Amino acid sequence: MSDVAAARRDAGRSGRAAVWTSAIFGTRDFAIGVAAFLLLALWSVPPWLVVILGAAAYRFRDLGGSVMTRLLLALALCCAATMPVLAQQKANMPGMGMNKAAPGAPYHPGLGELMTAFVQPRHTKLGLAGAAQNWAYAAYELNELRETFEDVGKLVPKHGNLDIPPAIASTVAPPMSALDAAIKAKDQAGFTKAYADLTAACNACHQSADHAMIVIQVPAFTGTGFPDQDFSPQPAK
Ligand code: HEC
Repeated sequence: MSDVAAARRDAGRSGRAAVWTSAIFGTRDFAIGVAAFLLLALWSVPPWLVVILGAAAYRFRDLGGSVMTRLLLALALCCAATMPVLAQQKANMPGMGMNKAAPGAPYHPGLGELMTAFVQPRHTKLGLAGAAQNWAYAAYELNELRETFEDVGKLVPKHGNLDIPPAIASTVAPPMSALDAAIKAKDQAGFTKAYADLTAACNACHQSADHAMIVIQVPAFTGTGFPDQDFSPQPAK
């Protein structure tokens, strides 16, 4: 059995302090350890790269001082070379899930994302506002929903064979105009009818877009859909 293997075996028996003495044999090993630590901690080099570089350094550590020096130099050069790339990666970090996109590529949400994230909650809130006769807020939320549909038409002009802006114009746009009139007139019955028409128009587009399984309804509750928001009318200030 080699000295190294024997030392490893002994180290396994006698715990942590022995692991230190058996794994870190001399100043060269120590230098490799320090270099690996710096790569990981200071330069955020990926752990897999550190393992490969460390293994290479460990493999050649007995070949003599000059080789060792060259290797350590190579390690330092490697990490210097990766630094600009890493800085670039860090600049792209904000925004969750961005690491899935190519570095620097803008995030393009699809129609399904835009519907779930923006259209659906605004449709719900608009219904809750109307049910609470909160006309000021209903006017605000209707405006938001209109803007959202404008954005949707620009961001996703086509879905399969369906041209989105004309589909919006022929389905949800007319009931949104009727809602506008009802809100301005503070007309509860008019709002209820126009909101039902809007909801039917959502589904009409889903059907013509081959997504009949997506069924929208008038919110079946009042106020609890967004438990942290008060939908009751506020006194004018
Ligand atoms: C111009 C056509 C069109 C209009 C108008 C439309 N939708 Fe959609 N919607 C779609 C299509 C197409 C999808 C499927 C997108 C995909 O997943 O690729 C979709 C998906 C959805 C989804 C995602 C389903 C899920 O459970 O993840 C929701 C929610 C939704 N729509 C709500 C609404 C609501 C609410 C309205 C009305 C205020 C509405 N949509 C109006 C075309 C439309």
